[in-house]
Amino acid sequence: MLEKITMSILGVKDLEPFLSELDSLKEKDLEIGAIHIDVMDGEFVENKALMHTGLMEKLAEGGYRLEVHLMVGKKSLEEEMIKAIKYGADKIWIHVEVEDAEKYINIVNGINRKAEFKYISIGLAINPDTPIQNVAILKDKIDSVLVMSVFPGKGGQKYIESSYEKIKSIRGLLGDIEIVVDGGINEKNIKKVLESGADKVVMGHALTSNINHMDKKLMWIKKHIV
Ligand code: DX5
Ligand code: ZN
Repeated sequence: MLEKITMSILGVKDLEPFLSELDSLKEKDLEIGAIHIDVMDGEFVENKALMHTGLMEKLAEGGYRLEVHLMVGKKSLEEEMIKAIKYGADKIWIHVEVEDAEKYINIVNGINRKAEFKYISIGLAINPDTPIQNVAILKDKIDSVLVMSVFPGKGGQKYIESSYEKIKSIRGLLGDIEIVVDGGINEKNIKKVLESGADKVVMGHALTSNINHMDKKLMWIKKHIV
């Protein structure tokens, strides 16, 4: 399994062929570490992308780990978090820019204290222009940081070069917490992103823009990088 690669399916238009391609990656020993589900509320970010719960159920049944990135503001955040958990999320990131983000982290940690449910990993996503101290003060309450290397809101954007330094600083400040980097990752920058201190990356457009080439790209990455 390619543990360090997670795949954003935001840009996938035709689900059926995509899902069969995804399954065929398993047979080629190129299974990706997790599926990254982007949810947008049209307020925290301009675009709207609802949580595709049917798809989540299908992917969870197929044995895929689901990591949900909630680009959602205060108004519907709690509701979306609960929905993500209900439909099989293994990990949830909420944005540190949301007012009183700590309250929402506490909700997930509260659910985790009830032994009858599976553990849900909780993390904070941080925008390119947000100071890393905002995450550092909550580090004891979270499992993961999603470093945005584009401004959130749409797929297929260009990686922001200053993100390398940001990843390094977060690694320095937060120690061995999981760091995942999201936005504009491709076969050219992935190596430097991982060398800067990321544990994992999210890849969207670079993989899903041509689903017939996903296997070749992943094979190259497996051979040369991860
Ligand atoms: C951006 C999203 C990303 C995005 C990644 O708002 O959070 O997850 O879909 O896709 P690429 O790799 O195309 O930037
Ligand atoms: Zn994302």
